[in-house]
Amino acid sequence: MPTDISSSEQANRSLILLAGGNTPQLRQMHALLAAEHTVILAESCAYVMELAAAHFPDLILLSARNDCDGLYVCEKLQKNLFKKRPAAVMLFGPEDDELIDLSFAAGADEYITEPIHWKLFHYRISFLIQKRRAELELHEFAGRLERTNRELQDFTYVVSHDLQEPLHLIRAFAERITRKSNSVLDEQGAVYLQRIEKAAVRMQGLIDGILQYSRLTTQAREFIPVDLTGVVRDVISDLEVRIDGKKAKISIAELGTVEADPLQMRQLFQNLVSNALKYSACDVPPCIEVYPLPPPVPAGRRASCRVVVKDNGIGFDSCFQEQIFGMFQRLHGRDEYNGTGIGLAICKKIVERHGGSISARSSAGQGAEFIVVLPVRQKKKKSKAGA
Ligand SMILES: Nc1ncnc2c1ncn2[C@@H]1O[C@H](COP(=O)(O)OP(=O)(O)OP(=O)(O)O)[C@@H](O)[C@H]1O
Ligand SMILES: [Mg+2]
Repeated sequence: MPTDISSSEQANRSLILLAGGNTPQLRQMHALLAAEHTVILAESCAYVMELAAAHFPDLILLSARNDCDGLYVCEKLQKNLFKKRPAAVMLFGPEDDELIDLSFAAGADEYITEPIHWKLFHYRISFLIQKRRAELELHEFAGRLERTNRELQDFTYVVSHDLQEPLHLIRAFAERITRKSNSVLDEQGAVYLQRIEKAAVRMQGLIDGILQYSRLTTQAREFIPVDLTGVVRDVISDLEVRIDGKKAKISIAELGTVEADPLQMRQLFQNLVSNALKYSACDVPPCIEVYPLPPPVPAGRRASCRVVVKDNGIGFDSCFQEQIFGMFQRLHGRDEYNGTGIGLAICKKIVERHGGSISARSSAGQGAEFIVVLPVRQKKKKSKAGA
């Protein structure tokens, strides 16, 4: 390895391992590449794996000649270094279909044949190095993102879980004061106490909502075929008292079956139908329709099921149609309509977990429409072999 390059420069330069014996051709490659990259010339193929594991080169060029079984080394690199393996280029004589097949089967990213077109060779090597570096960066970034997400989820769960206990105490003592010492409180004191109780109930609702939100991934269930019509019927039967109380009319059309987490489907439609009931106009009884939209034309690669939940309630200005899916986002005052502002954030997380989407259409005073799009079939999960 050349030693006349400073260590910081070396750290930035890409590292290439040329494995194929000390031939004039390899020496010429070395001379060409050394201007831009740090190059290690492995004279014997026997040490290539050791060198690769010690230096983690960005690219390794392997010869498929008798004196260096590059195909074997390439296959071993794939297995042993796996995600950290370098881009692998096979070098062999004139085009040979069998060697091309064997190279890619062994995990090579590219092949170069003799006689070498030097300009093309230079560009191909630079491209492969850039591609490999970008892949590694992306892989590291995805790993960091996954870790941060997990930490955030754990944090949310622990915080909301631990907040329950002091809150229980606040509620319990407030209730004890009401029961036992109410007579010693003056009017003002009784009002303060009521406000403490109200705030505690609200906080309980927020904690429950955050816990529900964080459990969407931690306590997720298997995707199985779920009949959405049945789900919406169950939701309506759960909400029967409120529906009767508001004299609401609800119609459900046949919605179809999708592969989904059944409990989460219930949570999704429970939030949407419950909102449609809650945000109803004061002078007209709620009229709620749940119906499917025809599949988009052309149908696209994955079939999807589109369901609309439509109401004739107070609606909202269309400029808020994205904002309302954010956590704690509420458009209407707490005194008029109680709630935590978590319901639609839960809906969004559920549909996104299922590879779908949710959107809203409305204008103030004109009712609202929520459109849920869910894939009919879920993608098969890739096995984590070798990970
Ligand atoms: N069908 C609807 N008609 C009009 N406004 C709606 C409707 N659904 C939701 N909204 C608006 O979007 C906001 C967010 O809804 P979301 O369901 O997330 O929270 P919430 O109903 O206030 O509380 P909760 O967490 O208890 O569901 C609501 O506060 C309301 O302003
Ligand atoms: Mg809601």
